[in-house]
Amino acid sequence: ILRSQIVGSGSYLPSRIVTNAELASKVDTSDDWIVERTGIRQRHIAADGETTSDLATIAAERALASAGLKGSDVDLLIVATATPDNTFPATATKVQSRLGMTGGAAFDMQAVCSGFIFAMATADNFIKAEQARTALVIGAETFSRILDWEDRGTCVLFGDGAGAMVLRGSWEKGGNQDRGILSTHLHSDGRHYGLLHVDGGPSSTQTVGHLRMEGKEVFRHAVTNLAQVVGEALRANDLSAADIDWVVPHQANRRILESTAKKLGLSMDRMVVTVDQHANTSAASIPLAFHSAVSDGRLNKGDLVVMEAMGGGFTWGSALVRL
Ligand code: ACO
Repeated sequence: ILRSQIVGSGSYLPSRIVTNAELASKVDTSDDWIVERTGIRQRHIAADGETTSDLATIAAERALASAGLKGSDVDLLIVATATPDNTFPATATKVQSRLGMTGGAAFDMQAVCSGFIFAMATADNFIKAEQARTALVIGAETFSRILDWEDRGTCVLFGDGAGAMVLRGSWEKGGNQDRGILSTHLHSDGRHYGLLHVDGGPSSTQTVGHLRMEGKEVFRHAVTNLAQVVGEALRANDLSAADIDWVVPHQANRRILESTAKKLGLSMDRMVVTVDQHANTSAASIPLAFHSAVSDGRLNKGDLVVMEAMGGGFTWGSALVRL
């Protein structure tokens, strides 16, 4: 059967690092509070004028280079983002032109923190339907632009960054020893709009708006939904938690990762954790974490990896991949 294999990855973080101590000089918070509640120690913040498409383009160029491919080899480009450069056109079309890709299709995917999983699932289905052969899937965000820097309950949690993966179709035998994406699982429940949303937009307020969140409620739903959607992926492939080599989770908060691991009966040593360094970069967090674990040699060919995310909407999802 036709499987989408991950043949390259790359990432980019803006050069400016903002520590918890620096934030504590601007809002009423402390390094201790932030580290204890979230595990976050620092975040990268885009420079003035540095946009989501700038971050996305660099991550994409690095992913293509690691795959030994050029922009013109790509026939599907998806940018998962909740912080596009402009209301339209899609940030993906800006990235497309900068990569020298003129054919195929480029569009954005909006599922906030789950965006990368939604984009990956979409690309996988295009590949399996033989409507694309080489897909570039990018998660890129500049959440610093939609934060209320006076709300200490949210502004300490997020950062900017981008990550990318190149997916390519390959004919495999069929079964859970195949290399490539084994399955993807997506969910949404729009009843929870109020718990995590941006209070602006072109059609409602004609402003960009700010992120608003009920942290405790989001936490509770996240742990339940993430454990459910990882279980769903394992059952669909006749696998159990013991078969998982690595979890590459969306990086929202260390306590969410710990609670999810516990619910699944997994040890924290099998979770890739970057939230301490990057904070929550929304749709960029999974490819950023993935690429860092590929680069330091933790992720290797043949490993069974589960990626999972949950975000505003609510949206949540998982992807089970044999590298
Ligand atoms: N520094 C110091 N004190 C703070 C800060 C801060 N940055 N933020 C809030 N507080 C205070 C509050 O004002 C409150 O004070 P009070 O008791 O005097 O009213 C106290 O700390 C406790 O606030 P809570 O919001 O109840 O704290 P909680 O333990 O729930 O931690 C947190 C807050 C870290 C946001 C937690 O709810 C959480 O992690 N939620 C998950 C949210 C998340 O990660 N969302 C990301 C997007 S969704 C996703 O990606 C899964």
